[in-house]
Amino acid sequence: MTAVLGFGGYAPERIMTNDDWAALVDTDDEWITTRTGIRRRHFAADDESTLDLAHEAALVAIADAGMTAADLDEIIVATDTPEVYTPDTAALLQDRLGAGNIPTYDLGGSGCAGWIQALDVARARIAFEPKVVLVVGVELISRLISWADRSTAVLFGDAAGAVVLGLGAGRAELLDVVTGTDGSKASILTLETGGTRKPFNAESLASGAYQFLAMDGREVFREAVGRMADTVGGVLRRIDRSVDDVALVIPHQANKRIIDAVRKRVGLEPDRVYVNVQEYGNTGSASVPLALWEAVGAGRIAAGDLVILTAFGAGFHWAAAAVQF
Ligand SMILES: CC(C)(COP(=O)(O)OP(=O)(O)OC[C@H]1O[C@@H](n2cnc3c(N)ncnc32)[C@H](O)[C@@H]1OP(=O)(O)O)[C@@H](O)C(=O)NCCC(=O)NCCS
Repeated sequence: MTAVLGFGGYAPERIMTNDDWAALVDTDDEWITTRTGIRRRHFAADDESTLDLAHEAALVAIADAGMTAADLDEIIVATDTPEVYTPDTAALLQDRLGAGNIPTYDLGGSGCAGWIQALDVARARIAFEPKVVLVVGVELISRLISWADRSTAVLFGDAAGAVVLGLGAGRAELLDVVTGTDGSKASILTLETGGTRKPFNAESLASGAYQFLAMDGREVFREAVGRMADTVGGVLRRIDRSVDDVALVIPHQANKRIIDAVRKRVGLEPDRVYVNVQEYGNTGSASVPLALWEAVGAGRIAAGDLVILTAFGAGFHWAAAAVQF
C-alpha cells in the first residue's frame, strides 16, 4: 500500500494580474476572466529559477512528512521547464536538499499530466522495493512563453507542488492511478524549437520561435474535457467505487470552463470540485500537487474522504489518481 506521507507547495510572491497583462498585450480582464476564470498568476522573481521553486515545495513536503532529506530514497521531478537542459532538475534538487547520493530523474515533456504520471512511476518503484520517494511537479512557464502572444501568455503561471510517498499509514493512501496517451495529437500543444528537429540557433532566436508554444486552443479544450472526465470514471471503476463516493475532485487547473465541463460530465456539484485557477493560472505539472497541498491545508479534505486527481497535458497525455484520506 502506497501512502502519501507529506504534502508541499510553493508559489512565487510576484503577482501578475489580468490588468498587468492588459498593459502589455491587446487583452482585458473581461476576456481573460470569462474565457478562462483566471484573475492572477504568480511569476518567479528575476533571480528565481525552477530549482528554487522545486526546493521550496520539497522542503514543505518533507517537513510535513516529519522527515528530513536524509530519509529520501529517490527523487522524481516532473517538469517541462527544467533548471538547465542537462542534467535533470532532480539531480540538482538532490544536491540542494543534501539528500545524499540517491537516484534521481526527471519526467519531462508530459506537460500538465507529468506529475500524476510521476506519481504512477513512484508507486511502481515503491511496490518493487520499499522506499521513500519525493515526487515534485514544478513549472516556470513565464520564462518559456512569448510575452507578446496574448493567446497563450495570459494562461500560465509559475509554481511547484510535491508529495512524499512511502509505505505505512501516512496521511492518505494512493489507491490507484490510470494514465493514457494519444501521440497522434502531439501537434495540438507543442514547443518544437530547441529539440533536434528544430535546433535553437540564431534564426530561432531572431524570430522568437524558441518561445512559440503552438496551441490549438479549441482542440486542447475538447480533448481535455473528454479525457479527464473519462479517466475519472476509469480510475473509479478500477477501485470499484462510484462518483457518489467521491468527496473532492482536484482537476488540473488550466481553465475554469474546462473544469466546469468536466464536472458536469462526471456529474458532480461545484462544491465537490477544487478550483484555484483564479489565483495561479495554469501552472503545468505543478497545478495538481499545488491544489492538493492547498486543499489539505485549507481543511477541504477530511479523514475518510476519497479524492480524485485528474490532469491532461501535451502529448496528448491524461491521467487520474485515487487518493483515500
Ligand atoms: C485559449 C482559450 C481560452 C480560447 O478561448 P476560446 O473561447 O476558444 O476563444 P475564441 O475562439 O472564442 O476566441 C478566440 C479569439 O480571441 C482572441 N484572443 C486570444 N487570446 C486573447 C486574449 N488574451 N485577449 C483577447 N483576445 C484574445 C483570438 O485572437 C481570437 O480572435 P479572432 O477570433 O479575431 O481570431 C480556450 O480555447 C482554451 O482554454 N483552450 C485550452 C487551452 C489550455 O488549457 N491550454 C493548456 C493545456 S495544458
